[in-house]
Amino acid sequence: MNNINRRKFLTTTGTLVAGTVITNSLSGLSSNVYAGNKMKLAAVGTGIRQTDMFGKKLTKDYSDYVEYVGLCDINPGRLEYAKNYIGVNCPTFTDFDEMMRNVKPDKLIVTTVDSEHDQFIVKGLEYGVDVITEKPMTTDEIKAQAILDAERRSKNSVIVTFNYRYSPHRRKIKELLMENAIGKITSVDFHWYLDTEHGPRYFRRWHGLREKGGTLLVHKSTHHFDLVNWWLDSDPDEVMAYGDLEVFGSKGPFRSKSCRACEFKDKCTYFYDITQDERNMRLYVDNEHYDGYIRDACIYRNEINIYDKMSVQVKYKNNVLLNYSLTTYSPYEGYRIAFNGTEGRIEAWIHERQTWPMEEYDEIMLIRNFEKPEYFRISNVEAGHGGGDKRMLDKLFKDPNQSDPLSQSAGTRDGCMSVLTGIAARKSIDTGKPVLVSDLTDLGLMEQRPK
Ligand SMILES: NC(=O)c1ccc[n+]([C@@H]2O[C@H](COP(=O)([O-])OP(=O)(O)OC[C@H]3O[C@@H](n4cnc5c(N)ncnc54)[C@H](O)[C@@H]3O)[C@@H](O)[C@H]2O)c1
Repeated sequence: MNNINRRKFLTTTGTLVAGTVITNSLSGLSSNVYAGNKMKLAAVGTGIRQTDMFGKKLTKDYSDYVEYVGLCDINPGRLEYAKNYIGVNCPTFTDFDEMMRNVKPDKLIVTTVDSEHDQFIVKGLEYGVDVITEKPMTTDEIKAQAILDAERRSKNSVIVTFNYRYSPHRRKIKELLMENAIGKITSVDFHWYLDTEHGPRYFRRWHGLREKGGTLLVHKSTHHFDLVNWWLDSDPDEVMAYGDLEVFGSKGPFRSKSCRACEFKDKCTYFYDITQDERNMRLYVDNEHYDGYIRDACIYRNEINIYDKMSVQVKYKNNVLLNYSLTTYSPYEGYRIAFNGTEGRIEAWIHERQTWPMEEYDEIMLIRNFEKPEYFRISNVEAGHGGGDKRMLDKLFKDPNQSDPLSQSAGTRDGCMSVLTGIAARKSIDTGKPVLVSDLTDLGLMEQRPK
C-alpha cells in the first residue's frame, strides 16, 4: 500500500490471528468427542479434493483423531492411486452401498462431482451416519429438498464445508458487522474475479457441464453467496440475474478433444500441458481409460453449457440489496467487496494471485460517515486460505464440539440457502424473470437468522 504512514491502522496482525488459532486448537485437544476411539471415516469420491484437502492432511496431522475405514469411487484406478497417495490401508469399493454395509463408519465425507452429492448425503443419513459434504451441497432445488427431508427423517446430521468462512480476513469482516460498525447494512457490492489460470480450469473438466456442476453460479458462487448470507445473517429472498458464454466453449476460435491432442497448442493462450503435472497425470490421465474423464479437455469444446460471465442481483429478506458478479478470465485472482451501511462503509479488496509482487497482508477499510478511514491488516502468509482450512479441519475432526462464536460451522440450511441463490439466478437467466427463493424448497425464509 502506498502512503501507508498517513493512514491510521488498527492492526489485526498475523500474530494475533495465529494466537486465536492456537487457543482453539488446544481446546480441541482436550475435548475430542471420540476420545480414546478414533473417528472412523469413509469417503466417496477420491479425486483431488478428497486426497489433498482431507486424505493427506488427515493422515499427516489428524491421525490421533481419525482413521479411514473405507474409500469409494466409481473409477477403480483413481481409487487405488488415492489409497496409496493418502497412505492408508483401508478397503476400497466401487460400490457405495457395499462400503457402507461393510465398514460402518462414524462419518461419511462426500467429495464426488457436485451433481452426485445428494444421493450419497441421503444414503449416508439412511445408513445412520453423520455426513460431511463438500460444497455445493447440491445442484438443484429438487435434490436440495430431498436432502432436507432426509435429514429431518434422520437422527444424524450434515455439515457443509464452507472453508471460506474460516479465513481470518473474512472472520474480521464478520466481527466488524457483528459489532454494528457501520450501522444497518443497506447494500453489498461483491465482485469476484477468477484469473486466466484458475478460470479456464472450470471449463477443462466436468464443471463446464451444467448437469454436473450446476453452472458456476452454483459450483463456485455457492462459496460467495454463503459468505454474504453468513455476513448478513439473513436469507436471500428474490433473485434477478444475467449471464452468457462469450469466451470459452463454442465461442472459442478453434477446438480439440484435449490439450494433449491439440493441433493448436502454439496458438492457444490457454494451452495446459498436463504432462508436466505429475500429480494430475497419475490421478487422472492414468485412469481416463476407465471412465473417459479427461482432465485437460478443451476449454473451447462445444458441449460446454455454463456461463463465463455472470451478474446477479439479490434482495435479502432484511431488505439488503446485493450486487454480485463473477468473471472467469481476469488478469488477477481475487475479489472486491463493500458493505454500505447507514453509518458508513466497509470495503475490502483481495488479490489472491497476481503477476506482480503481492503484499503479505490483506486490508479492510472501515469508514464511518464523516470520519477518516481506519485500516485493518490481516496477514495472508499462512497457507490454506490464511490458515482457515486448518481451523476448519480442527473443528471437524479434532473437536466437533468446539465453541463457534461466529457461527462458522454450516449445516443443510446454510448449504441450501447458498445454492438456492445460484439456482434461482440460473432460472432467472433462463426465463428473464426474477425468481423467489421461497418457491424453490419448503424452507421458510428468515429476515434475521438466529445466533
Ligand atoms: N471447498 C473448496 O474450496 C473446494 C475445492 C475443490 C473442490 N471442492 C469440491 O470437492 C468435490 C470434488 O472436487 P474435485 O476437484 O476433487 O473433483 P475430482 O473430479 O477430482 O474428483 C471427483 C471424484 O468423484 C468421483 N465420482 C464421480 N461420480 C461418482 C459416483 N457416482 N460415485 C463415486 N465416485 C464418483 C470421480 O471419479 C472423481 O474421482 C466437488 O464437489 C467440488 O465442488 C471444493
